[in-house]
Amino acid sequence: MKRFLPDEAATIAFGQEVLDALPVDLAGWTMLLHGELGAGKSTFARALIRAAGHLGPVPSPTYTLVEPYSLSRGNIYHVDLYRVSDEEELRYLGWNELENGCRIVEWPDRAPGITEQADLALTLTYEGEGRTADLVGLSDRGKALVSRLMPKGPVT
Ligand SMILES: Nc1ncnc2c1ncn2[C@@H]1O[C@H](COP(=O)(O)OP(=O)(O)O)[C@@H](O)[C@H]1O
Ligand SMILES: [Mg+2]
Repeated sequence: MKRFLPDEAATIAFGQEVLDALPVDLAGWTMLLHGELGAGKSTFARALIRAAGHLGPVPSPTYTLVEPYSLSRGNIYHVDLYRVSDEEELRYLGWNELENGCRIVEWPDRAPGITEQADLALTLTYEGEGRTADLVGLSDRGKALVSRLMPKGPVT
């Protein structure tokens, strides 16, 4: 499912829309965020976390690797694997324990093995002044979510 996001507000609205499409209980969902530096991965993650009810700042997990949020719909873990070089390091950061929440992962290609555990993959790419979002369902429930979102926006 592709969607053109002309500005930051559109990326934020899309993050809210994806959150709305997820089940009330977010536990166990894993979403991968692909895209170059500045493509909008953190903007999208922040919008989703705020839409889930978080009121404070959403700091970048670049150094901490994981920023946890305990929210009414469950835990959300904002993960940034930029500094991770292999799956072994994932164990150190306690990746498996994050299964009790929704994992939103920037730079997921640092640990390719997590793709098989993921439900959704969002790729953000530069297009003119804006960005294109390409949301793909990986699991059955992820595919179902994407097909529910599809009618709401222009499909390309
Ligand atoms: N759809 C969009 N069109 C244009 N600019 C955007 C869009 N979405 C986000 N931005 C801007 O691009 C930058 C994205 O930064 P960030 O979200 O930190 O990217 P990343 O986490 O992918 O490195 C921010 O300055 C944000 O305002
Ligand atoms: Mg980022």
